[in-house]
Amino acid sequence: MKDLKQALEVASHHFALKELDAAINACDAILKVLPGQPEASHIRAFVLLSKSQEISGKAIGQLQSSLQLNPENPLVLSTLGEAYLVANRFAESRVVLQKALSIAPEFYYGLMVMGRLLLQLERCAEAEVVLRKALSLPDTNHQATYIALAMSVMPGPWYMERLADFHEWLQPATYLEIGVETGKTLKLAQPSTVAVGIDPEPQINYPLADTTQVFSLGSDPFFEQHHLPDVLGHASLDFAFIDGLHVFDQALRDFMNIERFSRPNTVVVIHDCLPLDTASSDPKRTTKFWSGDPWKVIAALRHFRPDLTCFTIPTHPTGLGVVTNLDPANTVLKERYREVIVAYQDKNYDWLVENDLSEVLGVFVNDWDEIVARIGEAHAKHYE
Ligand SMILES: C[S@@+](CC[C@H](N)C(=O)[O-])C[C@H]1O[C@@H](n2cnc3c(N)ncnc32)[C@H](O)[C@@H]1O
Repeated sequence: MKDLKQALEVASHHFALKELDAAINACDAILKVLPGQPEASHIRAFVLLSKSQEISGKAIGQLQSSLQLNPENPLVLSTLGEAYLVANRFAESRVVLQKALSIAPEFYYGLMVMGRLLLQLERCAEAEVVLRKALSLPDTNHQATYIALAMSVMPGPWYMERLADFHEWLQPATYLEIGVETGKTLKLAQPSTVAVGIDPEPQINYPLADTTQVFSLGSDPFFEQHHLPDVLGHASLDFAFIDGLHVFDQALRDFMNIERFSRPNTVVVIHDCLPLDTASSDPKRTTKFWSGDPWKVIAALRHFRPDLTCFTIPTHPTGLGVVTNLDPANTVLKERYREVIVAYQDKNYDWLVENDLSEVLGVFVNDWDEIVARIGEAHAKHYE
């Protein structure tokens, strides 16, 4: 075939644009000339898999034919491994993936699919090892690998479900969300809650309750220009979610501003407090999957504010920090702001691992009854 590379790019391009029939046609044109061609087989199988689970049988058949012609090809083996995985044929998936990795132990795609298979089989510790090996290899994106790693390290319900649990349990009269984006989490606020969202560039595409309003502002300007109780029509805040700019100093200021309008039982949840590795938790974003370093807020509060109840729920993708027992009259963070920033600004994930990540971040369990009991215990102190 004269220009295979270009023909493959056309097929990938159609797939990326979700022009599935055009992608199939482009692959078929290649496979007519070059039967079993590995990349074309790989793309075609994915188009079929994404079209419908039922068609996964067709994808498997096509890949098995390609494998007869390319029995040692890691891409064909790994794609077949993924097709079997999607079809819940785990034993067959494992056989072909093991073969792919015995031929090419550092084959990124094979490692990524093997990690996802192990995760599916609930062999989370083994999945973590394989996925971390994949992440050590060059790849343009790593998104699927990070997500599988997050689910291996933090099994159980993900952060959206936990946020919904908080809304359901707290039934807050007032809610503040910093970092709204599409409104995916702000929509969890119920009509019985007066909710305020802050984001300099909101792109709302979820229906929000009539009692929810969104301010197109960064959080610092919002707190400079508005008095939160006036905006809420209530004296204090019951529940807050910090998910704006994912860097330490901003997330710390967000917490300090929220505490000013809190009462002891207020619950503040901070996104991205359980980082997965150095690259994805660097405050300068270099990875598509990115948590930044808000985890330092939890580390700093646990150190500088032992009066707070502060822990981290290991919920994927990157954990939720929880803070309660707030004290609007406390001035420690304001007075020692520079010291707090300096204490953590140069620390990174490696430091966290060397210094007992679990202890520094107060990693708790991803179990709702236990979370309720822990917060309830903290709140009970106010009624003794
Ligand atoms: C990760 S998204 C929020 C996602 C949303 N909470 C969810 O879970 O679906 C982060 C958002 O924070 C916003 N943001 C960035 N800097 C901010 C700031 N200083 N104050 C408030 N929001 C900010 C961004 O525009 C972006 O929409």
